[in-house]
Amino acid sequence: MSELEKKTENGSVGAAEDGASGEQKAGGDSGVGMGVLFFIAAFAVCFLSGWLLFPSLLYSKKEQPFNFNHALHVAETGGCDSCHFFREDGSFAGIPKNSSCVECHESQLGETEDEAIFMTEYVEKGVEVPWLIYSEQPDCVFFSHAAHVVGAKMDCVSCHGHIGESETLKPYQENRITGYSRDIWGENIWGIKKNSWDRMKMDDCAECHQEETGSKGACFQCHK
Ligand code: HEC
Ligand code: HEC
Ligand code: HEC
Ligand code: HEC
Ligand code: HEC
Repeated sequence: MSELEKKTENGSVGAAEDGASGEQKAGGDSGVGMGVLFFIAAFAVCFLSGWLLFPSLLYSKKEQPFNFNHALHVAETGGCDSCHFFREDGSFAGIPKNSSCVECHESQLGETEDEAIFMTEYVEKGVEVPWLIYSEQPDCVFFSHAAHVVGAKMDCVSCHGHIGESETLKPYQENRITGYSRDIWGENIWGIKKNSWDRMKMDDCAECHQEETGSKGACFQCHK
């Protein structure tokens, strides 16, 4: 075969190929179009299912030992500080021990199952109730109620919401990865915060400190 023949052959083969690829391109466009559509659809399905499923997989729910009715007890005692008080040394008592309860619950007062569990499993056995603390921060964080409630005169609602008026306890949700309470990151998966008590991450502490004191504070103020 001469050089010229080779060229023509190649040329014609090339032309034929061009033609074919031209045709393929025309078909390929709608193929690519379908591919893109399919990709978007598959992405949307994965994204949405992940978005909706992830939080329910990320958090495990735990029930409190028994229900505690704040509304009933606040009406009985007239306030928060008979149970959540500041000790002589200025430290916050936190969740009350059984000794705060037995002034009234010496023996069974009513008929409810919750009270029966409280009396038989805890008071009679002399065991403190292992309450799960919704707002519990990691061990490395230092938080003082005295600085906020006594010092800065803040009310409980601004950080805890309306737990003090509630009749039933919500389940405690634990983050499976970090082991922290869901109340730290909040319920809203988009991270939207409507109320000051919706979450209590580092940024939320610092945001309020910035507003109230003009400075976010140094690391060592909040970290042990
Ligand atoms: C009779 C005692 C009693 C009184 C009065 C009382 N509490 Fe409580 N409080 C408890 C007990 C017990 C718990 C633990 C169970 C629970 O989480 O509700 C608790 C838990 C809480 C928590 C949950 C903290 C966390 O992060 O888990 C908050 C907030 C709270 N109380 C606020 C209040 C406020 C505000 C008032 C007044 C309006 C009040 N309490 C009155 C006994 C009491
Ligand atoms: C000032 C008195 C008083 C104190 C203090 C008190 N209680 Fe009560 N508690 C009551 C009364 C009254 C009832 C209503 C009983 C009924 O009629 O069912 C009640 C009901 C309950 C019930 C069942 C009702 C329900 O809806 O869940 C539980 C559980 C309970 N108390 C736990 C506690 C615990 C835990 C503490 C301590 C942190 C405590 N109480 C402190 C007076 C008190
Ligand atoms: C500035 C925000 C803020 C305010 C105001 C506040 N708390 Fe808290 N509270 C927290 C944080 C944060 C924790 C978790 C502390 C930790 O894990 O070290 C907590 C924990 C608690 C607990 C769990 C027990 C414990 O370990 O201390 C109770 C009960 C409680 N708070 C009740 C109250 C009551 C009642 C008031 C109002 C008198 C109040 N808090 C005001 C932020 C606040
Ligand atoms: C809604 C507002 C608000 C939020 C939320 C808040 N703080 Fe504060 N904090 C204050 C104010 C106001 C002071 C008082 C500042 C002062 O006295 O100079 C304060 C003081 C402090 C101090 C200094 C105490 C001292 O005596 O040196 C520490 C530590 C602190 N906050 C930690 C935290 C942590 C940790 C969180 C989040 C879990 C938090 N705060 C959330 C308002 C807030
Ligand atoms: C206003 C209080 C505050 C200040 C100031 C602060 N932190 Fe934090 N930090 C927190 C709180 C509350 C948490 C736990 C909640 C969370 O993970 O957002 C946290 C969590 C962390 C964690 C993750 C720890 C864990 O176990 O999940 C690191 C790391 C950290 N802080 C580093 C820092 C450093 C570095 C600084 C200084 C630049 C700083 N923080 C200043 C309050 C504070």
